Amino acid sequence: MPLDPDTYLTDRERLRGDVNDVDAIMSLTNRDSAAEYSLVSSNFDSLFTWNYSKGTRPALNKLYEKAKTSQWNGEKDLDWSIDVDVEKVVRELSVAAPGDAWIRQEAEDAGLLKGWGDKEWLQLGIEAQNWRLSQFMHGEQGALICTARITETVPWYDAKLFAATQVVDEARHVEVFAKYLETKLTGYYPINAHLEALLNDIIRDSRWDMTYLGMQVMVEGLALAAFGFLHMLTNEPLLKSLLRYVMADEARHVAFGVLSLKEAYEGMTSAELQERQEFAFEAGIRMRDRFLMQEVWERMGVDVRKMVEIQLRLPNEFKDFQRLLFSKIVPNCKKLGLLDAGDGWLRQKWTEIGVIQFEDWANTGDEYLELDHVATDREAGALAS
Ligand SMILES: [Fe+2]
Ligand SMILES: [Fe+2]
Repeated sequence: MPLDPDTYLTDRERLRGDVNDVDAIMSLTNRDSAAEYSLVSSNFDSLFTWNYSKGTRPALNKLYEKAKTSQWNGEKDLDWSIDVDVEKVVRELSVAAPGDAWIRQEAEDAGLLKGWGDKEWLQLGIEAQNWRLSQFMHGEQGALICTARITETVPWYDAKLFAATQVVDEARHVEVFAKYLETKLTGYYPINAHLEALLNDIIRDSRWDMTYLGMQVMVEGLALAAFGFLHMLTNEPLLKSLLRYVMADEARHVAFGVLSLKEAYEGMTSAELQERQEFAFEAGIRMRDRFLMQEVWERMGVDVRKMVEIQLRLPNEFKDFQRLLFSKIVPNCKKLGLLDAGDGWLRQKWTEIGVIQFEDWANTGDEYLELDHVATDREAGALAS
């Protein structure tokens, strides 16, 4: 069941106006979980290139060579015999989220959590972890589809070769998240409506650079920050190792986006760049909205709308986690010249939502080598070849 087109279009208007409009946020609801497929129509050109000279774009060629030596096998390189203590994982994660205590207090004051004790809070944490990993898995499938698309649409030979390696990487990511969910966690969630709307926005757009911006820079930029955060917080050895492997790949993917778009944007007019700025901002808001966890509140039997309202009112001092999710996106947008293009529209928007302070953090075009440990470990003999 695809998203209802009327609701979906209204929601795009919301992204240009009041980003905190609760009616609009609530108008996108979770899909029918019984559906096995969903269809997104689009119309794009598949491009052959007859110029086979490898290394015309040295930075992309370097990424491609790196990708070939950084392959890993999700079945063999991860220790699936590890028993996962989900309750322990949930306790570790809850310590690090001071905003949760504020939300809890507000929800209790509003009478939304009648009869809730430690058991319900623990269950909420377990559901949240099931939900989080499910959304990662769905996002990975989005990346799989988008990079298959880029392989077809990007005009540059070096980029087609790299994109093909990314398709394999994303297949592996879907595989390991799905296996972790199925064998180590206790439940599954369908794709969040805001994440689905974002993936649909990206896939519907026929311009190859928009696939890059939406997926490589925005979705994967946020994923890289979110994986890094979870990797830092959890001591669960299987998840920690899984995330470290996935991040090594993701860093190359974001770098691929930044390095390619840098060249693509150089020839663009400010009207064209304005469209990219708006697309980036809308994607950012959709990703913020997905973290409202509507489906989890619903499954826990809590009034979803009221929980969404409370979360949107979270005071600034508790927003560090939400903001850190933008810590890769903002410097990468800056590197691409998107912050200050035109009259600095995107700088203004990132300032309004409180994330502009990341503009001078490392951009992924520069830092991906540090995150890519797989090739280094293999050379050192720490990994089976
Ligand atoms: Fe991925
Ligand atoms: Fe990726």
